[in-house]
Amino acid sequence: MEKKSLIQKKYKYKLLEGGFSKEDISIGVKVLLSGQITMASQTKKFEIEFAKKLGVKYALMVNSGSSANLLATFAAGNPLRKKRFKLGDEVLIPVLCWSTSLWPLIQFGLKPTFVDVDVKTLNVNINDLISKISNKTKAIMLINVHGNSSDLFKIKKIARKKNIILIEDNCEALGSKLKNKYLGTFGDFSTFSFFYSHQITSGEGGMIVCHDDRDYEILFTLRSHGWLGGTRFYPRSLGIYKTYAKKNLNLDPRYIFVNSGFNVRPTDIQAAIARNQFKRLNQLMSIRSKNRDIIIQNIISSKKWNNQFTFISSAPNNKTSWMGLPILLNEKYMLKKMKFINYLDKVGIETRPIISGSFINQPATKLYKLNPKKLLFKNAQKIQDLGFIIGLPTKKISKKNVEFIKNSFFNVDKI
Ligand SMILES: Cc1ncc(COP(=O)(O)O)c(C=O)c1O
Repeated sequence: MEKKSLIQKKYKYKLLEGGFSKEDISIGVKVLLSGQITMASQTKKFEIEFAKKLGVKYALMVNSGSSANLLATFAAGNPLRKKRFKLGDEVLIPVLCWSTSLWPLIQFGLKPTFVDVDVKTLNVNINDLISKISNKTKAIMLINVHGNSSDLFKIKKIARKKNIILIEDNCEALGSKLKNKYLGTFGDFSTFSFFYSHQITSGEGGMIVCHDDRDYEILFTLRSHGWLGGTRFYPRSLGIYKTYAKKNLNLDPRYIFVNSGFNVRPTDIQAAIARNQFKRLNQLMSIRSKNRDIIIQNIISSKKWNNQFTFISSAPNNKTSWMGLPILLNEKYMLKKMKFINYLDKVGIETRPIISGSFINQPATKLYKLNPKKLLFKNAQKIQDLGFIIGLPTKKISKKNVEFIKNSFFNVDKI
């Protein structure tokens, strides 16, 4: 029998309610019934549509956002790449990060240096970033937190000038734009997640975009065993294929391995579901944004409103595609933050931390001794001490739920 702890708790207000439409499900089932479950035409079509909408040259689908970060990191350090980082090079990363924004860097053998963030936007603090760039800095793993961003134009300019590779973890920001340019198009590599509560979902799934033929070739082979992959989907116009096909190596041309690799391929079921959701991206973004406004307006226009909370708003020039509603408690409640979170959980409102808090506080960081100088990150700490997230539904929020959230929130003074 399934363990009780593995059974999902029933919340009245979830991080995401009913993430799939009936059409998403039936499209997924159709692929399943077709028998073509492994990566095939749905994946290819989705990649082309994704790249087209974002206005980038290449998109490559993988089985998760974590895998996208893994491939982006290993591609950026791949021997086939002229400009690449090597073992022991330094990489900057905001300390308010997800675990698998960080671990690929460690797995590759890089040395992360943490950077603080801004409390107002949750995103990397550019002054701290600049102050931590040294001659050893070879890459920045940037994270666009909750659809928001820092000034990526400025960061990109600095990276170019200093010859630093920019990986943009955009797993939480599909659809957001900065001055009309999509987030997820600034990095040499940019990554996306289609996990359940993200802007679109296929249950599990991810994407990497890049702009360069050689980078695409590397990603393509890393995704699937270092293999040209039977060449069924391999763009034959590209270099690696040509090089190897021309040489008479007496190798079976269907089984040529040109690089190291993983297996992080998606299934065609995931691709078909994500593809169908992607068609509705603008609509999903707009509903979430309206629901956000409704919740905030209802709370701040109440007689009980006394600045108990701060609702994180869009950074300058950022048109945010919200994934959830990030909230900070007023500082006077800091000592009872977890009590409040437990209260919300008990009444049926699902919450989560803002990413995973300041990552230096996580036991795994200590295990790998990642903050040897014991640097303090006061803004990320503040976000951890006061911050949490509630969901934003992809259908218009009911009055009942708005009242439920509002009344539960105002109990912060009573608990
Ligand atoms: C910033 C960030 N990066 C990476 C990931 C990993 O994505 P996935 O859950 O698809 O592996 C997440 C997951 O939520 C994330 O928030």
